[in-house]
Amino acid sequence: MAFLAIATLLPLMSMPVDGASAVRCGESSSYCPADMACCTSKYSPSTYGCEVAIGNLSDVSAGCGDGLPKGDTLCCKMGPAESPSRSLANVLVIGDSVSIGYTGPLAKRLFDVAKVQHGPWDVSDGGALDTAYGVGCLDRWLVTQAQEMVQWDLITFNFGLHDLTNSSHCEGLYAQQLANITKRLVALNTKVMFVTTTPFMPLRTKGNTVVEDMNTMAQKLAAEYNLPVIDLYHTVTGACGAVYSSCSICRTNPCSYHYNAEGMSLQAASMEAAIRQHLGPHASLLTV
Ligand SMILES: *[C@@H]1O[C@H](CO)[C@@H](O)[C@H](O)[C@H]1NC(C)=O
Ligand SMILES: *[C@@H]1O[C@H](CO)[C@@H](O)[C@H](O)[C@H]1NC(C)=O
Ligand SMILES: *[C@@H]1O[C@H](CO)[C@@H](O)[C@H](O)[C@H]1NC(C)=O
Repeated sequence: MAFLAIATLLPLMSMPVDGASAVRCGESSSYCPADMACCTSKYSPSTYGCEVAIGNLSDVSAGCGDGLPKGDTLCCKMGPAESPSRSLANVLVIGDSVSIGYTGPLAKRLFDVAKVQHGPWDVSDGGALDTAYGVGCLDRWLVTQAQEMVQWDLITFNFGLHDLTNSSHCEGLYAQQLANITKRLVALNTKVMFVTTTPFMPLRTKGNTVVEDMNTMAQKLAAEYNLPVIDLYHTVTGACGAVYSSCSICRTNPCSYHYNAEGMSLQAASMEAAIRQHLGPHASLLTV
């Protein structure tokens, strides 16, 4: 499956813009900057990631969320698979498997105005994982797997479902790490939108409000930076109720992290409406 996906994408990819400073990972379509080694990343369709120096980030984040492997380097998944569009707006969706789920239907809905890609390039696993992984790997996801620079017209981002530790220490660290990621995205001088974390009712129904707490902190942060918020949490509770254990848009019964086709389509519709509203006319449409 992964092999087929790579084979069909290849004609659309180009070599690194700055070829001299990027090194190809094996015989794959992925490259790393010359100062980073290629590493094995099981869930990257090319099977490669780039090894990034992360200082003491794995110690700082220990015990919270998914957690990072111990050590002062991290194998970061590759950025988006394909070259940017030269005629449509380029939209980047950063997030976990829930966002991987709605990126396909979202791309179809926005076909007339935007090329939508997911960062990291991951079609089958947790994508951007937790905020610690995001702090370590964000820069790798802003360039394509061929290390092409992209002037993104709009970036949406979410972290949350991999940061599900409801201690005040870990929730505080979530806010801190999300602030780090937010500042770096805001500095890109592009349109940035925060997406709230979708519900995780197996915890909520037990009185664990870690998702709701994180959304409150994230929305406060988004307001500080004047970032529009796409409220997928309420897209889901609007369809399922405030607190529930099963719902027709969930992939499983009782509900867990993931959604069926109807749920992904519902989320894609919310994303589409917000993105169309904020994209506006963009330069590349006028200059091509
Ligand atoms: C990580 O490094 C920073 C800066 O050097 C230091 O202040 C902090 O205590 C370290 N944290 C851990 C958990 O090692
Ligand atoms: C984000 O965190 C990294 C790792 O701790 C640090 O090197 C960087 O300066 C931080 N960036 C911002 C904008 O806070
Ligand atoms: C964390 O969740 C548990 C239930 O899973 C709850 O009993 C506890 O009070 C929560 N702690 C905090 C700090 O929210």
